[in-house]
Amino acid sequence: MRGRSPLLHLLVAVFILSVCRAAAELRICSYNVQNFNLQKASNYRLIHTLTRVLGRCDVSLLQHVVDSGGEAINKLLAALNRGTDRYDDFTYKSVSSQSMGRSPADMQQYVFIYRTETVNLTGQYQYSSKQSFVREPFVVQFQSNRTAIKQFVLVPLHTEPSNAVHEIDRLYDVFQEVSKKWNNKNVMFLGDFHASCAYVTRKDRKNIRLYKNSNFSWLIGDKVDTTVTDATNCAYDRIVVHGEPFLKAITPFSAKVFNFAKEFKLSKTRVLEVSDHFPIEVRLKSSAPFLLQATPLLLLLFSWIVL
Ligand SMILES: *[C@@H]1O[C@H](CO)[C@@H](O)[C@H](O)[C@H]1NC(C)=O
Ligand SMILES: *[C@@H]1O[C@H](CO)[C@@H](O)[C@H](O)[C@H]1NC(C)=O
Ligand SMILES: *[C@@H]1O[C@H](CO)[C@@H](O)[C@H](O)[C@H]1NC(C)=O
Repeated sequence: MRGRSPLLHLLVAVFILSVCRAAAELRICSYNVQNFNLQKASNYRLIHTLTRVLGRCDVSLLQHVVDSGGEAINKLLAALNRGTDRYDDFTYKSVSSQSMGRSPADMQQYVFIYRTETVNLTGQYQYSSKQSFVREPFVVQFQSNRTAIKQFVLVPLHTEPSNAVHEIDRLYDVFQEVSKKWNNKNVMFLGDFHASCAYVTRKDRKNIRLYKNSNFSWLIGDKVDTTVTDATNCAYDRIVVHGEPFLKAITPFSAKVFNFAKEFKLSKTRVLEVSDHFPIEVRLKSSAPFLLQATPLLLLLFSWIVL
């Protein structure tokens, strides 16, 4: 050892290790992209920002996509695959729901964008109940050999604001149906639920089974602000998981808002170009044993100490 303290080496080692571990995890994101259509997809600057945001995620749920012809999403995928090719060999694919809405003038799709190197799409199912939802969840199942949990189900929801309490409650029915269908109780609910401020109050929670039933864990708290503007401070966007096994497979405290205005040092104007919501995200633990992940680091540490 020359001069420098072993403590410093240890701190550096712990830092590198935590970076390695985070890289081996699976990041799931949800983003209300507010009327993402061909016009938005043709804005080079906007697409650049969006690829930086989505390029961090293994699976992204986009909501409020208005692209029945598929051209906007194709442009986004092309940009994502071009952008990432420079650094790795990641390949993104997408799967989209049909357009759904109150009226022909307000039709929206759910779109999942996923990295084929880290997850496989193993199921998709359009839940159907016009009495329950304006935009019925387009449910998907993924498999990954990278994560502690092998198969998991994602249930998206972009609620109709005036009907938010009713729609969030009805997610319980979706849970019962899809967990039986795929024999899999590892279910995550995500999206812009409007689960805050005037749309869902504290008093409303007694009418929401996903709140009352303690088997469901709300990972994005009530005090979080998922909106961009200073005028609003609401936890609209949420991630909820079912069951102890799934909860244990999630990296503690990894559920958060991704404030990319701060992270990428972008102006609010640039951020609002994409959406008035921020994305939210959560990470699933890696399946690799701790020692295996740490091997390169132990070698490094060993060489530092010995040489
Ligand atoms: C995991 O999946 C990747 C990509 O399909 C593959 O290259 C790798 O061999 C798989 N690993 C295991 C342990 O199955
Ligand atoms: C995807 O499925 C294939 C075929 O079952 C498998 O070989 C591969 O490892 C899977 N990829 C991942 C990332 O789990
Ligand atoms: C919670 O989950 C356990 C295990 O699946 C089940 O036995 C129990 O009935 C569930 N509790 C409620 C309130 O649904």
